[in-house]
Amino acid sequence: MDSNVPPFSIGRIPTVDLSGTAHFLEDVLDGLRQKPKRLASKYFYDHRGSQLFDAICGLDEYYLTRAESEIMETYADEMAIQIGRRVMLVEYGSGSSVKTRQLLDVLIDPACYVPVDISEDHLLQTAEELARAYPDIEIAPVCADFSQPFDLPPVAAAYSHIAVYFPGSTIGNFTASAARRILRQIAGQVGPGGGLLIGIDLHKSNETIERAYNDAAGITAAFNKNLLVRINRELDADFDIDQFDYRARYNIEQQRVESFLISNSRQSVTVAGEQFIFDAGEPILTEYSHKYTIDGFANLASPAGWAIHKVWTDRQRLFAVVHMVVESDPPLQASEPDR
Ligand code: AVJ
Repeated sequence: MDSNVPPFSIGRIPTVDLSGTAHFLEDVLDGLRQKPKRLASKYFYDHRGSQLFDAICGLDEYYLTRAESEIMETYADEMAIQIGRRVMLVEYGSGSSVKTRQLLDVLIDPACYVPVDISEDHLLQTAEELARAYPDIEIAPVCADFSQPFDLPPVAAAYSHIAVYFPGSTIGNFTASAARRILRQIAGQVGPGGGLLIGIDLHKSNETIERAYNDAAGITAAFNKNLLVRINRELDADFDIDQFDYRARYNIEQQRVESFLISNSRQSVTVAGEQFIFDAGEPILTEYSHKYTIDGFANLASPAGWAIHKVWTDRQRLFAVVHMVVESDPPLQASEPDR
């Protein structure tokens, strides 16, 4: 970079898009009225939930983080070449951006970095830390629910193209039709020639997967139950946390982990004045974590306009990081039904 140019100023106040976060109450009531009852996993990540998730990433059983880190450590240089110079890098669900640093360290003259996260706390702290560590990269945080369309922020830096970084297999939280909708949203955001570097957890033996979501220390259980704690605090509810048990099982046919909080007695819970009855043994679905084969993922992504350019895996082939590019002539919307 030109050494006469002062470092970019840090956008301390993120661009905020509240359209997603404002619907917490509505989404919770709507989910609890359904049968089976459900709660959206995107609401796990309040301050405590983000801490618990970081703890999960350090667990022996949770192989995903280790496998993805191994891939990043081994192949970040190759990824940087694939992504290309002078990029605007947009990260979906930046959290504490640990993996991002491995990428920012090797990207070729990157223009700017746009962390996008639903948790404003986490986002601001991360943005400030990164701005200090990378003074030559403009940091433009966006507080948004990336499962909904949102605008990219205005930036001062001149970039040549946009690439989205979507690590952690977070795409796995979405059903196939929702995942395709998000992949199409990203394709629209980056445009023809734009890139997507995405982490996906690979389909594998039952035991390995189920252990990752049923850790011995009970951190994943606490992570799920924290959602009830959050609902009690933020939505004037009276969940008795001890009256719920956590369970996760791998549904091989659907290739997804299904996580539940199970009522261990018949009980009544009030949320913002509305009463909900739980039978003994009745589940609340809290999360899907889909697992993929490379071919299966290519089939999911290609109707959204993506062509896979490169795939990296860890030595045990537990996890994959995939680089895809929007083809210059994307398929027409009309030819791709969303279900
Ligand atoms: C961050 C969504 C990828 O589904 O594996 C970890 C969240 N849930 N343990 C996942 C999670 C239970 C995680 N993702």
